[in-house]
Amino acid sequence: MNSKMVIAIDGPAGAGKGTVSKALAKDLNLAYMDTGALYRAVAYSMLENNANIENAEEAGKYASMLGNEISFDVLNSPNLRTAEVGIAVSKIAAITEVRKALFECQINFAKNPPLDKNGSILDGRDIGTVICPTADFKLFVTASAEVRAERRHKELLEKGENIAFETVLNDIRERDKRDSNRKDAPLKPAEDAIIIDTSNLSILEAINKCKENIK
Ligand code: DC
Repeated sequence: MNSKMVIAIDGPAGAGKGTVSKALAKDLNLAYMDTGALYRAVAYSMLENNANIENAEEAGKYASMLGNEISFDVLNSPNLRTAEVGIAVSKIAAITEVRKALFECQINFAKNPPLDKNGSILDGRDIGTVICPTADFKLFVTASAEVRAERRHKELLEKGENIAFETVLNDIRERDKRDSNRKDAPLKPAEDAIIIDTSNLSILEAINKCKENIK
């Protein structure tokens, strides 16, 4: 029997769920998985190889190569965070073959944290609804599209990507639409998730609010 804790964090892009998850992982000694990076790695590998991201079968093939022909090392690549990958990834994340191929490694991670960890924490879009529906704690971290675009814009400028705020805001809105309206595992809070709106919170306030809800 696995009595270790599982925490599911979901929410749209730029709401702060990654920052919150990393802080909780450290505080509670949990293994952390950024599941968005799995989808980004598939999109990035396809773009690198000039593969057709609209082709479901091919996208599924790339997803099943992750951890095999495509090393998990790619998950740490800064190339996963470019605006180009950001646009491609929400398209491939809507493909059922891709979601199926990435299902197993997420479940395994959630159920089998290293022995020295108290459990696992995963962030994404469907963790509380599909991947870990029986998670001990479910948080849905969100913020307005404008605030999320401001955060993302700042991040891209700092990385040297010269991009207009309006473009970032439009991309965020497009991705929200695609993530929320897709048939397979759409972005939505689980019925038993606690909603945390970070629009008017600093990073520290957002982290503390999530901690309060868990402790
Ligand atoms: O969290 P992120 O922005 O890195 O996610 C990248 C994309 O992957 C985003 O468009 C939604 C998708 N995604 C998903 O469909 N399911 C997940 N569990 C995680 C991410």
